[in-house]
Amino acid sequence: MDQKKLLQPIKRPRLEAPTSMYQVSIRGPIPNGPMQPRPLIALLDGRDCSVEMPILKDVATVAFCDAQSTQEIHEKVLNEAVGALMWHTITLSKEDLEKFKSLRVIVRIGSGYDNLDVKAAGDFGIAVCNVPGYGVEEVADSTVCLILNLYRRTYWLANQVKEGKKISGPEQLREAAQGSARIRGDTLGIVGLGRVGTAVALRAKVFGFNVIFYDPYLHDGVEKSLGITRVYTLQDLLFQSDCVSLHCNLNEHNTHLINDFTIKQMRPGAFLINTARGGLVDEHALAAALKDGRIRAAALDVHENEPFSLSTSPLKDCPNLICTPHSAFYSEQSVTELREMAATEIRRAIVGRIPDGLRNCVNKEYFTTGSVRPPYAFPGYPEGMNGAGYPFPNPAAAAAVAALGGVHSTTMDQHPAVSHSTPHSTPHSTLSDSSIHNMAKPENSEVH
Ligand SMILES: NC(=O)c1ccc[n+]([C@@H]2O[C@H](COP(=O)([O-])OP(=O)(O)OC[C@H]3O[C@@H](n4cnc5c(N)ncnc54)[C@H](O)[C@@H]3O)[C@@H](O)[C@H]2O)c1
Repeated sequence: MDQKKLLQPIKRPRLEAPTSMYQVSIRGPIPNGPMQPRPLIALLDGRDCSVEMPILKDVATVAFCDAQSTQEIHEKVLNEAVGALMWHTITLSKEDLEKFKSLRVIVRIGSGYDNLDVKAAGDFGIAVCNVPGYGVEEVADSTVCLILNLYRRTYWLANQVKEGKKISGPEQLREAAQGSARIRGDTLGIVGLGRVGTAVALRAKVFGFNVIFYDPYLHDGVEKSLGITRVYTLQDLLFQSDCVSLHCNLNEHNTHLINDFTIKQMRPGAFLINTARGGLVDEHALAAALKDGRIRAAALDVHENEPFSLSTSPLKDCPNLICTPHSAFYSEQSVTELREMAATEIRRAIVGRIPDGLRNCVNKEYFTTGSVRPPYAFPGYPEGMNGAGYPFPNPAAAAAVAALGGVHSTTMDQHPAVSHSTPHSTPHSTLSDSSIHNMAKPENSEVH
């Protein structure tokens, strides 16, 4: 056999450049006649849709509202939006949800969904999804960072240096670093051993903490897998812990879990960290405990009222406190991942079945197809928005996407991978990034 021939690379059929991939529309052939309107998707409490647009623009019109309340949202969005994306700066009560006449799906750009009434949404036939897991490592790392700061007093020591204090000799150092403590051998009590709690437990073990946890909703055995200790009451956890870190989700059963009464069950001089939800801690009770030294120091990333202002908070005169602005989840990577995952979930809703086609629907138990909202059929996806939901109605398009390697990422599983820096175009779309509409109500709107 000809050796040269053997060494020649096998010629593969040329794949089209990424932009022409979209020349085979995944929406199927356009029928003769006028263009069908695309479903309207609204980002309720933000302006920047640059990550979401490339994922959604071939199937939807994307509008941003930049609203703090539903009163600031434009009538068109309230009447026509079938999907909504929301950060945590807007709250949707039952009354707010009632104002949306066509809404079928809400995706929380984040993991907590305590800022919307998921039961009422379900009753209205609106599926609510979250994005769990996007920033678990960041929240766990931030938590450990805060724990280390409380034990090693790095934040306060750095501030003294910044303020120009010169520290020399063992006496001055003792005074400046007073309260610094050894970690090894101390007990860290984790309340809520979910994704973040587990990641914190794994990290804390490496620092020499004896890790215990309380989570009444978990099956027995998880403590064995992780090599940590389980306690079965909150009281037990508070009694045993030198440092308590909160990682449960906020719900109607655990609001003010840390209050006057439970603080008295904590070890005198214990540390408290909260990177979960502000509503878990009664800030008045915490302020009193910090001032009388019952709690030696606390670190809070989340607060009862956000955006947090220390000057108007009951915690304003507490010197032994570190506050960060609900930023534990943040890294450039985690936020991009989060936004991609949220937009992809909306996309699943448009091209697929609700709620079965959704990956992270959190109100399935309340959501019924026989709800007050009539089924929505998106033109071009005859059975989309609660229909049969085949993601690629056009087999040729499906084949084209498959030939291009399909989609591999766990975040981008039903649409071709796209670059955010180079928005693509589709022959069937008149949309471009500049077509994102601001759907905030004008300031002189009749509704306030
Ligand atoms: N600060 C931030 O930037 C940030 C970012 C992401 C998530 N969070 C918050 O962190 C928390 C944990 O997130 P997660 O993704 O690990 O959630 P998760 O749902 O994976 O875990 C929560 C755990 O808490 C447990 N739990 C619920 N109520 C409890 C109670 N009363 N006592 C003890 N355990 C209880 C649940 O059984 C569950 O195992 C949530 O409150 C979330 O909103 C904060």
